[in-house]
Formats: sequence, C-alpha cells, structure tokens
Amino acid sequence: MERYNYGMIGLGVMGRNLLYNIADNGFSIAGFDLDEEKVKELEGGATANMTVKGTASLEDFVSALETPRKIILMVPAGKPVDAVLGNITPLLSKGDIVIDAGNSYFKDTDRRIADLASKDLHFMGMGVSGGEKGARRGPSIMPGGDLEAFNLLQPMLESISAKVDNEACTAYMGKGSAGNYVKMVHNGIEYAIMQLISEAYDLLKRGANLNNDQLYEVFKEWNNGEMNSFLIEITRDIFKQKDSLTEGYLVDQILDKAGAKGTGKWTSEQAMEIGVSIPTIDIAVTSRILSAYKEERIKASQLYSEKQITNPENTELFIKEVGDALFLASLISYAQGLALLVKASEEYQFEIPLKDVVKIWRGGCIIRSVLLEKFYVAYSKDSNLSNILLDQDISVIVKEKISSLRKTAAFAASNGISSLGIQTALGYFDAYTTESLPVNLIQAQRDYFGAHTYQRIDREGVFHTSWESTNN
Ligand code: 6PG
Repeated sequence: MERYNYGMIGLGVMGRNLLYNIADNGFSIAGFDLDEEKVKELEGGATANMTVKGTASLEDFVSALETPRKIILMVPAGKPVDAVLGNITPLLSKGDIVIDAGNSYFKDTDRRIADLASKDLHFMGMGVSGGEKGARRGPSIMPGGDLEAFNLLQPMLESISAKVDNEACTAYMGKGSAGNYVKMVHNGIEYAIMQLISEAYDLLKRGANLNNDQLYEVFKEWNNGEMNSFLIEITRDIFKQKDSLTEGYLVDQILDKAGAKGTGKWTSEQAMEIGVSIPTIDIAVTSRILSAYKEERIKASQLYSEKQITNPENTELFIKEVGDALFLASLISYAQGLALLVKASEEYQFEIPLKDVVKIWRGGCIIRSVLLEKFYVAYSKDSNLSNILLDQDISVIVKEKISSLRKTAAFAASNGISSLGIQTALGYFDAYTTESLPVNLIQAQRDYFGAHTYQRIDREGVFHTSWESTNN
C-alpha cells in the first residue's frame, strides 16, 4: 500500500490550497475533512503531477501516512483544534508530528505541546500568511517549537513557501509557541497598516475630493515606488472594481463596519500584559470596534454636523504628504510590532531571531513590503536592536518624512477627519524620541495621593514626600 508523505486535516480554502501547493512540490499528501463533499472534490481538483488522496475516515487517513506521520491541521482556531486533537491522538504512534497551521492563540499551543509531549507526540504551532493565493502559490511560513520536528519539515516548508531573491520565506521562529506568536504580531501590524491606509483614503477622498479613478492612480504610483507592498497593491485594485449590482464602484457600496477574528485583539492584550507600547496597533483594533457603532455614529453626525472641510491649496503636494505620512506611520507600526517581539522573546524565552522574522516577511505574507528589506539590513547589522527606530539608516528615512506626518496629522485634526492611526503613530514617535517626558508629574501625583513613592534624577533610591504637610 502506498504511504503518503504528509497529511492535511481541514480542506477549507486554506487547507486545500496548501495541500495542492505541497503536492505540486513533489510531496505526496492525503487529506481529511469532516465535510465529505470537500474530501470528494479533493482528488478532482488535483493536477496530473500531484499525488493526492482524499480519505473518508480519520482511521483511513492515519493509516495512509508514512511514519513518523506528519499531519498539518488547517482548522479554525480554538475548540475545533482541540476536537481534532482529541480524535486523532489515540490513533497516532510515538514520534508522530502534528503541525497546527491555523491562527491559534499561543498559550493554547503551549498547552497542546505539553499535552502531546506526554503522549510521546510532537506538536508545533506554525503561522501561515498570504491568504488563499499565498497558500497555493507560496505563503510566508512561521514555524516554531520542536526542533526535531522542524528539521524533518524544513525541506518541504522551504519548497512550498514564497521566495525573495531565491531565499525561502520560512525560517525557525523560536522555541515553544513562537511560530504562533510571530504570526499574531504579523496580524497586529496588518491591522495597523490597514487602518492607516483607510485613513489616507479618507483624507484623499474627503480632504481633497479625489474620486476612485484618481485614487487608483495615486495608489498605483505609490506602489511603484518605496511604498511597494501587498496592501498598497490590493488597495489600488479595489478602486478599479465596479459593482455588479449598481452602476458605481463596489467600494462605495460596502458597509463601513469592520470585522475581526481576534488576532489583532490578542496582540494588544499581549502588549499590555508584558508591558510594551504599541498604540497604533491598539488603535487599529479599537477603531474596528468603533466602526460597529453605525447607528450611534449616524445620530452623532447629525448632532455635531458643523464639520467643514477646507481642501488643501495644492492637491499634488497634499497627495505627496499623505503618501509620506502613510509610509512613515506604517514604518512606526512595524517598529511597535517588532519591539513587542523583542520583549516577548525575553519574557517567554522564545529566542525569536528578529532578522529572520523580517526576512521571511519580505514575501508571501499580507504585510510584505519593500521596506522590510531595510529592516533586514538593520537587524543584520545588529540582531539585538530593541527598536527599529534606533537604527541609523532608518532614522534617515524617518527624518525625511516626519514633517509630512505632522502636516497630515494637523490637516486631519483641523478638518475633523478622524485619523486615529496617524495621530497615534506620530504621538508614539514624539514620546519615544523625547528625553524627558512629563511623567515626573504623574509620579508626584501618585506619591501625593497614594504614597506610591518616586525615584529621583539626581540620586539613587526610592523617595516619598508628605506633600500636604509641606503645602499647608
Ligand atoms: C494572513 C491573514 C489571515 C487572515 C486574518 C484576517 O496573514 O494571511 O492575516 O491570517 O486573513 O486573520 O483577520 P481579521 O479577520 O481579524 O481581520
């Protein structure tokens, strides 16, 4: 009986496409899904060069695989992963490897690693980014955890992943649940950049009256230069999409309530938990929440309807400034996410190689951009860089764009165009680059009302003052 190199559980859009990608690269693979229709369709969708098998039961699936079995799960995060593990682990043998390729919460992965280890099984958390197309043609893959298992998978992961300059967009992301953690932060950055792009769109649309054809041209130009990235590219194309149900463009018919599956929220929660400041990611998460208050926003817009927009005098210049502001605010969002990875790596002993993280994000994933090449250079010079803003070459870019970020933030504020992402990116930059923040006053207040003590700038130690008795 023929034994298959790999197994895939979960034949939804992502699972099926990843399976075909693996098969296309010369590895035989069996698939299983609870939905019998998906199993039936699997072999029909394969091309002649692929060795693919759909299996009707978990028992058939497990016995079709060579040992040690290498089983990839592509099922929704949370309970479905535990349900699959509950059903499959009794069928497995010592040394088999289960790889969770969904957007699982990293603490769930830690729990599952321990649980499967107690059964002599390997469990790995592996982030996969790139959506449907990426899964099929080359995603960015973020595996972590068990090194023994990783070494067995590495050749396959390298052949199916995206390539940049002939280098595979996959690498070992660190110990334990590092793979899921890196993917979670990837998504946090994704939220921030999407928020920033939506603000740039609003500024150009309402601030400078650009229509969809003009927006297409602006994003096309941006994508041809230093802002070249997946998200700018798809935004460009969105402005071209006509609506099939009405006369106009589809984007204008889409309800302004954003969905979210949770990875952005986890990033913010994590940053709070381990004490890292990532305000642009936080604001992107909360902006999606605020967008859902549609009915209240309608009432409030009628109550406070006095907003008047004064268009910029020089539209060309305005477009350039908004572009520079978007570029810099995106850079600052990457900086926040990467700083979170640095701290998490210490906190959880992940040993995340930051240089490899930015290297494998250069291709295949949703936040891929040419800017990551510059981060890769920065981490190649100094792998211990605590914040990308501290790199000399990056500082040159920042200094070049900062006045555009200020002008854009000021334009948005004075015209009542909400730009939470742009404002927080600027505010973060200003706070991060200020030697003396006014929090000496906060420390004084805390000591005043709660005897919380403070430190001094001129001598060591911890101090408390009886403020009221001094003042009376
Ligand atoms: C990716 C995406 C992918 C998914 C997001 C969407 O890297 O391929 O990030 O994982 O599209 O999780 O997240 P929201 O539904 O929360 O926007």
